[in-house]
Amino acid sequence: MTVAEIFETMDYGPAPESSAEAMAWIDGHGGRFGLFIDGTFTDPGSSFDTRNPATGKTLAQVTQATPEDVTAAVAAARKAQPGWEKLGGPGRARILYALARIIQKQSRLFAVLETLDSGKPIREARDIDVSLVARHFYYHAGMAQIMEDELPGARALGVCGQVIPWNFPLLMLAWKVAPALAMGNTVVLKPAEWTPLTALAFADLAREAGLPKGVLNIVTGDGAVGEAVVAADVDKVAFTGSTEVGKAIRRATAGSGKALTLELGGKSPFIVFDDADLDSAVEGIVDAIWFNGGQVCCAGSRLIVQEGIAEDFLERLRTRMAKLRVGDPLDKCIDMGAIVDPVQRDRIAAMVDGTTGQVHRGDAPEGCFYPPTLITGLDPADPLMQDEIFGPVLVGTTFRTPAEAVSLANNTRYGLAATVWTENVNLALDIAPKLASGIVWVNGTNMMDAAAGFGGVRESGFGREGGWEGLRAYVKGPEGKALKPVAPVAAPKEAKVTGLDRTAKLYVGGKQARPDGGYSRAVWSPKSALLGHVGLANRKDLRNAVEAARGAGAWSKTTGHQRAQILYYMGENLSARAGEFAARISDMTGATAKQAETEVAASVDRLFTWAAWADKYDGRAKGVPIRGVALAMNEPVGVIGQFAPDEMPLLGLISVIAPAMAMGNRTVTVASTAYPLAATDFYQVLETSDVPGGVVNILTGDATELAAQMGGHMDVDAVWSFSSSDISATIEAESAHNLKRTWVNNGRARDWSVTDAHTFLAHATEVKTVWIPYGEG
Ligand code: NAI
Repeated sequence: MTVAEIFETMDYGPAPESSAEAMAWIDGHGGRFGLFIDGTFTDPGSSFDTRNPATGKTLAQVTQATPEDVTAAVAAARKAQPGWEKLGGPGRARILYALARIIQKQSRLFAVLETLDSGKPIREARDIDVSLVARHFYYHAGMAQIMEDELPGARALGVCGQVIPWNFPLLMLAWKVAPALAMGNTVVLKPAEWTPLTALAFADLAREAGLPKGVLNIVTGDGAVGEAVVAADVDKVAFTGSTEVGKAIRRATAGSGKALTLELGGKSPFIVFDDADLDSAVEGIVDAIWFNGGQVCCAGSRLIVQEGIAEDFLERLRTRMAKLRVGDPLDKCIDMGAIVDPVQRDRIAAMVDGTTGQVHRGDAPEGCFYPPTLITGLDPADPLMQDEIFGPVLVGTTFRTPAEAVSLANNTRYGLAATVWTENVNLALDIAPKLASGIVWVNGTNMMDAAAGFGGVRESGFGREGGWEGLRAYVKGPEGKALKPVAPVAAPKEAKVTGLDRTAKLYVGGKQARPDGGYSRAVWSPKSALLGHVGLANRKDLRNAVEAARGAGAWSKTTGHQRAQILYYMGENLSARAGEFAARISDMTGATAKQAETEVAASVDRLFTWAAWADKYDGRAKGVPIRGVALAMNEPVGVIGQFAPDEMPLLGLISVIAPAMAMGNRTVTVASTAYPLAATDFYQVLETSDVPGGVVNILTGDATELAAQMGGHMDVDAVWSFSSSDISATIEAESAHNLKRTWVNNGRARDWSVTDAHTFLAHATEVKTVWIPYGEG
């Protein structure tokens, strides 16, 4: 018998991991858990079972928190927060470091408990989940240590409400808790109802790290408890879970001033080019879709393979599928464990049953298991090609050219991750920026690390977890004063009308455009002079402006150097007309000549500053523990809808347009409702400065009338509002339609005399993390 034959015929023996210690920990709590509030477990209340999905046996009973419990947990967190923040970065770092050590020392307990509660293979819980959890606490201990030097002036947000799913229970806790605590926040966390045990174990053991009471609170229960956490008196909500619930949370928090990050679903493409190393690509896809039984938000669930190699590749994949071992998750030789709950198993089956595609299945035992499944021959619009299945089901299709691969890959409402498999690094790096996703893996998949941002675009949510970019979600700068509404000057009783009547049009696609509705309004000076008329933009004008901005996509591909040249040119042209602009500001607002001149000079300076930044907002090469690099690339967000401030009609306008332009975005900018003429004058500067048509579109009219449509527009990628009108809540609520990013003032003023470059840079860009492992053999 040859060695190869031995490998073919040899059967695996079982290699079970003992569950004794984990069961002893559960028994130590009497098999029933209360909530963890203010450093101690409450008495168990009305409870529900948490089960081992692999056996169906009850593991423990867990309390369904009441609204009063949630209030008590938030109150404990609120009370603990100032002291925790005051402890200082180095003080918190010690405790986070101790937490990391506890995770390592108790790694077996955590891994087994996770496997028992979630059904994931012990091999994954032990080697991936728990080791990444420790890494997250170490990394963020370091962030706490250096925070005061590296993030000067950054303050904690306060109390964070965090709601997490069941697919990576302890890892999602770490992703949320570690950065929050590092930056001086306190936490109320709700684990998923199917998998609450590791969060409770973490809280239990965290006491040994000296974590002060109230800093971390755990409330267990179903979605209603999640809803209560979101509605509670928290300063930030962080959620990972389904897109549907993410949208509900966006609506629920609209206008509340609560910071929000959402890490939602995906339908991530896995692209295999014809020059790929096919055997390694097969191993890649096994990891992409059968890791944790495909119950992974970034699972490579859509295989897109080049036509010439498709048959060969699929044949190799089917052969590999036959070798996948599905069964007892505690067996160290198992590739795929149980599905988290019979409800989820049935959900997967209901989606797949009745498909018109060709189905190929591996084996799976009876019970809460689902076999590895491959479905081919589906139309790109088929629900199985579009919807997240969240199970071990891979759908596959083919492409001919790289351009077609990109278009198929991007044909989804999601944008979390993507994998590109090719031996040609030029091709991989050409494709990576074209993919609409927050993460791209080259010749690898599911690579994650605390130092690298993780998160999506489109309906995969917004915000990043991990790295410097992840920290932004847990700190704030100084808070502005309440913003006074600025109303247009009312028509005087006795008007002074001199000279020609000038009606300023809208500016759409590089051309002046009459407002669709044919309405305009007079703009009066405080001294009763008629300064001119401006068009009142309506829905159709906004739609045209968005279309023009969409069409100007070439701007996003220009170099920073080119964009800088144009911004400098704008600065020069504005400078040449400084007197005229200053006079206009004085006329409109009643500012003194000196104040108006200062505003124009600051506006010119602001353009020069953003010209300077256009080619200097560098990405990073992250220090991730692989042989290779993870590049954090700052990409434009796309089309940004903007409501300009009222209090500084020219400087405010330029302060929002210029950073967006500098980073390669296109804008649809609604001018100050009260003082619109600075904006209509400004498009003459755009016209003489070689700004391509459609890059900046300017609308005038009533911000309150345009807010809902801008917020809800499916082709707008982000909305910023600095308007003094009360439109923040409307924008945030409407943004739930496509989960665009929003940045609204919530009625707070901003000091326009400062550039605040890093805040604007972060809002004007999406960080894409591109993982490129390298090396031979
Ligand atoms: P889910 O989004 O309902 O649950 C995630 C977490 O949110 C849980 O802790 C849950 O209790 C909580 N929750 C539920 N409703 C809430 C509400 N209204 N307000 C606040 N919190 C709420 O996900 P579910 O029902 O467990 O799974 C449904 C589908 O969602 C899956 O089949 C999968 O497609 C997707 N999903 C995606 C995840 C991801 O990481 N992208 C994670 C979990 C589920």
